[in-house]
Amino acid sequence: MSRIAYVNGRYRDIRDASVNIEDRGYQFSDGVYEVCEVRGGKIVDLPRHMTRLQRSLRELQIAMPMQLTSLEAVIHEVTRRNRVTYGIVYLQVTRGVARRDHAFPAQAVRPAVVVTARSLNFDKNQETAARGIGVITIPENRWPRVDIKSVALLPNVLAKQQAREKGAYEAWFVDSDGHVTEGASSNAWIVTGDGKVVTRSADQGILAGVTRAVLRDVIASLQMSLEERPFTPAEAYGAAEAFVTASSQIVMPVVTIDSRPVADGKPGPVATRLREQFHRFSAFS
Ligand code: PDD
Repeated sequence: MSRIAYVNGRYRDIRDASVNIEDRGYQFSDGVYEVCEVRGGKIVDLPRHMTRLQRSLRELQIAMPMQLTSLEAVIHEVTRRNRVTYGIVYLQVTRGVARRDHAFPAQAVRPAVVVTARSLNFDKNQETAARGIGVITIPENRWPRVDIKSVALLPNVLAKQQAREKGAYEAWFVDSDGHVTEGASSNAWIVTGDGKVVTRSADQGILAGVTRAVLRDVIASLQMSLEERPFTPAEAYGAAEAFVTASSQIVMPVVTIDSRPVADGKPGPVATRLREQFHRFSAFS
């Protein structure tokens, strides 16, 4: 079955789909994106993703490319046309096409929209979660506006590659104060010896993850205690558990950090329970 992409108003076979070479997303990374999980053919937590998309666009002074309801309809349609029951849908909005010049185009241009969807292997994802993943820590080298979900991901790409080369799955950035900010494509969490779940506050240094936001509700309703504060790699090495969150993997247990086992080196009960309970608290549409 051929894959279908939505590109600027049309549904195209992905092999024939193309964008203009003067799209500012291509030349300047001048755009934003969202990744939503698809489960049972439904989009998980779409309203939260749309709220964050609109915020990212506002911060960059890019107009919404179409009405929100139309955009949501496109997301559903791309998911349907690709027959994705479990997987992800990717949405990208860039400032649009203009002759190359760093400043915004003098005359407003239409923002460009691309939506794709693809199936993921559910069993493989579950197996990864049952095994747990390794992370490495590396110095933070991103711009301060990581709260904007921008397509400018070069530091994240290099961080992820460094992790892969070290046999790990994710890289955690560590800021100049010695605190973990977040992963290259996920938020970072630990569980303390006395059972407190810890993650950095979303005020600064991280992307306000949708999975992170939903997980706060999960934690509250399971009457677990949450501390929103920074933590160091040293605290993480000695933690009872660690995990990461992202739409594409929900709650993924971390079993090694910089090659040191976290506790007994197996996924812990808190991360496992949060992963199991997560979708009871998410919205499906
Ligand atoms: N990444 N932090 C970063 C830097 C991310 O790239 C992501 C998500 C998150 C988690 O956000 P959310 O829970 O809303 O997915 C945190 C997506 C999945 C990606 O780039 O593929």
